[in-house]
Amino acid sequence: MNTLIAYAGKTGNTAKCARRLAIRLKNVTLVDLNVEEVSPNDFDAVIVASPVYSHKFERSVQIFLRTYQNILENKLFAVFVTMVEYGTFNKVIAKEIAGPLRKNAVAIANFGGEVNNLTPFGWHDKIVAKSMIKLESKKHPIEFLPEAPQKFIEELKKVNWD
Ligand SMILES: Cc1cc2nc3c(=O)[nH]c(=O)nc-3n(C[C@H](O)[C@H](O)[C@H](O)COP(=O)(O)O)c2cc1C
Repeated sequence: MNTLIAYAGKTGNTAKCARRLAIRLKNVTLVDLNVEEVSPNDFDAVIVASPVYSHKFERSVQIFLRTYQNILENKLFAVFVTMVEYGTFNKVIAKEIAGPLRKNAVAIANFGGEVNNLTPFGWHDKIVAKSMIKLESKKHPIEFLPEAPQKFIEELKKVNWD
């Protein structure tokens, strides 16, 4: 079985999670959708990974999901996101992943996330990010969820995804 991990992001969190996941599965091709295009056609299984910014997936991930929706509906398919506003997870997933794709997904997981590099963002986004962190850090630590990748892999293994 060959697996595509198609991911994107702005500050490296999602990339880091994608690389860590890749070494725990066999025969993986990692593609940064902000750098290159890829078709899921040549793969048996596809993991899509995105950060959440302003309650949305990264643009290149949105485009990938829309372009290949029909193909992805007929593959082994799973998604993880990195994010910090955990309370919005279900709403973001419902908005960003089409119903039939959600139904077909083996796993859809929140891996948590860090916010430690605001350099790529403009002043407005910096203010939004800082106030979001202030609020969320009262509810939970702003960090990766340590058990999420293991749980995700266990879901994949249930359907003999390796
Ligand atoms: C400007 C900005 C906006 C963000 N907006 C959201 C958001 O709407 N919801 C959320 O859960 N996390 C939000 N985050 C947190 C990011 O999703 C998190 O840091 C993610 O891991 C970044 O992934 P990346 O390093 O792959 O780009 C935001 C972070 C920044 C800096």
